[in-house]
Amino acid sequence: MKISSEQGKIMKSRADAAVFFCYEDDLLPNAASVALNEPSGIMIRKMIDGGDVKGKDRELHVIYIPDSPAVPRIILVGLGKKKEADLEKIRGAFALAAGKARSLKLRSISVSPELCGLDVEAASIAAAAVEGMKLGLYQFTPFKTEERENLHELAELVICSENGTSIEEVKKAAKEAEIVAEAVLFARNLVSMPSNEMTPRDMANEALDIAKKRKSIHVNILDENKMKELGMNALLGVTRGSREEARFIIMDYHGTKGKERPIVLIGKGLTFDSGGISLKPAENMEEMKTDMAGGAAVMGTVMAAADLKLPLRIIGLIPATENMPGGLAYKPGDILKTLSGLTVEVISTDAEGRLILADALYYAQSYKPAAMVDVATLTGACIVALGESVIGMMGTDEKLKQKLKYASETTGEKLWELPLWPEYFESIKSDIADLKNVGGRPAGTITAGAFLRKFAGDYPWVHLDIAGPAWVKKDQPCIPKGASGVGVRLLIQMLRNWERMD
Ligand code: BES
Ligand code: ZN
Ligand code: ZN
Repeated sequence: MKISSEQGKIMKSRADAAVFFCYEDDLLPNAASVALNEPSGIMIRKMIDGGDVKGKDRELHVIYIPDSPAVPRIILVGLGKKKEADLEKIRGAFALAAGKARSLKLRSISVSPELCGLDVEAASIAAAAVEGMKLGLYQFTPFKTEERENLHELAELVICSENGTSIEEVKKAAKEAEIVAEAVLFARNLVSMPSNEMTPRDMANEALDIAKKRKSIHVNILDENKMKELGMNALLGVTRGSREEARFIIMDYHGTKGKERPIVLIGKGLTFDSGGISLKPAENMEEMKTDMAGGAAVMGTVMAAADLKLPLRIIGLIPATENMPGGLAYKPGDILKTLSGLTVEVISTDAEGRLILADALYYAQSYKPAAMVDVATLTGACIVALGESVIGMMGTDEKLKQKLKYASETTGEKLWELPLWPEYFESIKSDIADLKNVGGRPAGTITAGAFLRKFAGDYPWVHLDIAGPAWVKKDQPCIPKGASGVGVRLLIQMLRNWERMD
């Protein structure tokens, strides 16, 4: 979708449809009313007088305007009560409008931030329009070979700055929102890809491809020999049952000239989690191709940080492997000596995420980081505790947790903190090794977090469990069912606020 911002009147935009908002308590905002020319204004006012327009959340009307060659239709979207219309709802409303336009097989759509009737900066609304539409229109189609002609795409979004005073801000916000949305779509694509087409080596190639297109990103890929040399035996243990070779992906984005301490982002890159010898039940096992969603989110974030030219140094670490049963597979009862030197008794080979992250977190410390954030589809227990749409958060640093909470309020990716009290560490003590990789059924998400904590050292660290929201089972306005790309916008927002919140 081509996105352009211009100064001018929306009803002159020559788009196939113009988007307007209505509210329960303000059926046609004043600015919109003024902007609508005779025939369009009359049509909408008639619909309001007739009681057709109620302004309810997600209400949708397509209104044809007689004698209006410049803009033949208006898509009117309801947003409910005005004071409840936050950015997430606004993005959703734009997504809905764009979906309607696509189903009508329209080519172009226009919006005007100043006519939304909200007390929100024009730039923020422009960004919401770009994100809402790009995210809401996402479809994963590379494997559909039949009836491809029916896969209609909306070709163009025109943002019209009616009063023109904020056109430069609008342009910048729209461009940046496009970068962020592209990163989310990149992550969704990687997660949607089946595991036979997205192996650890494929993930490494994606990282190399990102670096090839951007001078400020350097990528280094560690193979299994290098992992052996370093002593990443937890990661190597997990990978042993698979015929696919593991990769440890290092992405280094240098957005500063100085020698600032980097922010290290770590993403679980399990390209397929069968459970290994502790095999998972067959039902829904296909969903375990999504077990690299944390890694994909980190890759998308580093990519966007570079495109946004953020003045930071950011390292992305993605341990990438399959977890498979096989003749050489690691087994329950095995003891692995992690990179940190701590030994781990394997209780379940299905609790593999924390093993690969243990080595990655310890490796991350070698950068003497300003902060470490790991993102992982780590525990089914997180879905039990918080539901399917919430990220579980644990960590050692109040300021870093605050940064993430603050970012989540902007992006709408809900997160909730869970405690890491001393008693949780008792349940991951092993009789014969330093740790065991399962702490029993109670508080399964927290004991996984406690396990990771043992490898984070004294650096500010936060763990994000995205097992719930990584894969969406029912269409949402900005997330068609499937891979959500959760974490990308959250991490980018945290990084964009970084300096301001220090
Ligand atoms: N990848 C899974 C967690 C998961 C479950 C992600 C459902 C997304 C949806 C993880 O590796 C796993 O299998 N965890 C086990 C841990 C248990 C053996 C302690 C789990 O959650 O059952
Ligand atoms: Zn598992
Ligand atoms: Zn897993």
